[in-house]
Formats: sequence, structure tokens, C-alpha cells
Amino acid sequence: MKEKIRFREKQKEKGLFIVFEGIDGSGKSTQVELLARRLRRRGLEVVTLREPTQGKWGQKIRELSRTSGSVSPEKELELFISDRKENVARNIKPALVGGKTVILDRYYYSTLAYQGARGLPLEEIRRRHRRFAVVPDLVFILDVPVSTGLRRIKDRPVIYGHFEEKEYLKKVRKIFLSFRDPECLVVDGRPEATAIHRKIWSLLLKKFPRLK
Ligand code: ADP
Ligand code: TYD
Repeated sequence: MKEKIRFREKQKEKGLFIVFEGIDGSGKSTQVELLARRLRRRGLEVVTLREPTQGKWGQKIRELSRTSGSVSPEKELELFISDRKENVARNIKPALVGGKTVILDRYYYSTLAYQGARGLPLEEIRRRHRRFAVVPDLVFILDVPVSTGLRRIKDRPVIYGHFEEKEYLKKVRKIFLSFRDPECLVVDGRPEATAIHRKIWSLLLKKFPRLK
């Protein structure tokens, strides 16, 4: 009980920051919702966010990927970074400072994986984020074979052109699996959603036993 109260007090200063990553169709949005629900039942204030955002840069990203198939990787990088800078400053940092738990669907690991797979150097992408991006407490990388991810989203309208090509996504997946950052945990995304959620919950409790 004491633990719980102390945790709530600490939450007033700084909330937990959890990120979900993985290729398209890996089940991120589903797991974000399941985890948010569970943490809310625990009495935490939870904010769920996603990138690309609904802000001006996020809209620009969607617009460009709809209308032109030929955005350079460099231009793509600039757009995702601008969108993220705005998200960190306007949404992520204020929520964390306000003691809220932030669960984010895609972050700079997606830029490393997707723009890295288009040939941009990973070290350069990391360097660009060091100055402004808050490092999450935990990143769950949901891993599924590309064929599984694509099968799950086959009815979704294709608005991101090259982002969903099979060979490209294989490269993206490989980069996701190569991360050695201490906050990154790879989780098998193939079982049914509730089983994955149970696994995620147990990993979260292992790292933050006070959540129990
Ligand atoms: P993402 O956000 O990674 O693109 P979603 O959570 O939107 O993935 O899931 C893509 C589709 O697959 C949705 O129709 C969702 O209901 C379904 N789905 C999610 N998780 C699983 C799972 N573990 N097993 C089977 N289907 C799933
Ligand atoms: P998203 O809307 O999350 O797609 P989905 O719900 O299908 O997973 O992301 C849109 C696309 O943008 C996705 O294919 C991945 C790509 N993307 C990047 O290439 N770089 C980035 O930094 C981010 C955040 C997304």
C-alpha cells in the first residue's frame, strides 16, 4: 500500500513513458489500447499518442505520400523530425511533467527503421534526435513476419505507398530487431492479442514492480 502511494506521489513529477514499435500490422494500436485500459484501471492517468501526428507536419507527411511517390529519404527524415519535435514539446513533455503516463504508437525507432531502410545512416538519425527526444522508459517492439503484418492490414486503404512494400518492410523489420538500446524489448507479435498483452504486462511489472 505504502509503495502504491509513494508511486502516485512520484507520478506527480514524472509519468511513465512507454512506446510501441513494429512494422505495419504488427498490432501496435491494439496493444496501446489494451495497456492504456489496464493502467487506467490501476488509477493512472494515461495519454495515448501516435506518430505521425494529426498536427501540421503529420498531415503534410500523409498528403505527400498520397500525392507523390517520390519523396526523398532526406525530405522524409526532415518531415518526421519536425512532426516529432512538435509532439515532444506540445504533447509528450507536458504530459510527463504533469505526472501522466504516456503511451506512444511509433517514435524515433520508426525513423531509424523506415528511413534507415531507405539508406540513411542510423548514426545520423540518432544524432538528430539526441538534442530533443525524451528517451522512453520502455519500448515494446512487436515482431511479426512481414507476410503476417501485411495480411492483417490488407483491407486498409494504402495511403503510404512505398512504406508497405514487402522487400522494404523486410529491411525495416531487420533494423527493428537490431536495436540494442536497454529500453527496447522485442515481443513476439504472432499470438492472439490478449496473450501478447499478458506478456507485455508481465514485462512491465518486471521493470516497474510498483505498478502491481
Ligand atoms: P498496427 O497498429 O501495428 O498497424 P493494429 O493494432 O492496427 O496494428 O492491427 C492490425 C490488424 O490486425 C487489426 O485488424 C487488428 O484487429 C489485427 N490484430 C491486432 N493484433 C492482432 C493479433 N495479435 N493477432 C491477430 N490479429 C491482430
Ligand atoms: P502509421 O500510421 O503508424 O501506420 P500503421 O498504423 O499502418 O502502422 O504510420 C504510417 C507510416 O509511416 C508507417 O508505414 C511507418 C511510417 N513512418 C516512417 O517511415 N517514419 C517514421 O518516423 C514514422 C513515425 C512512421
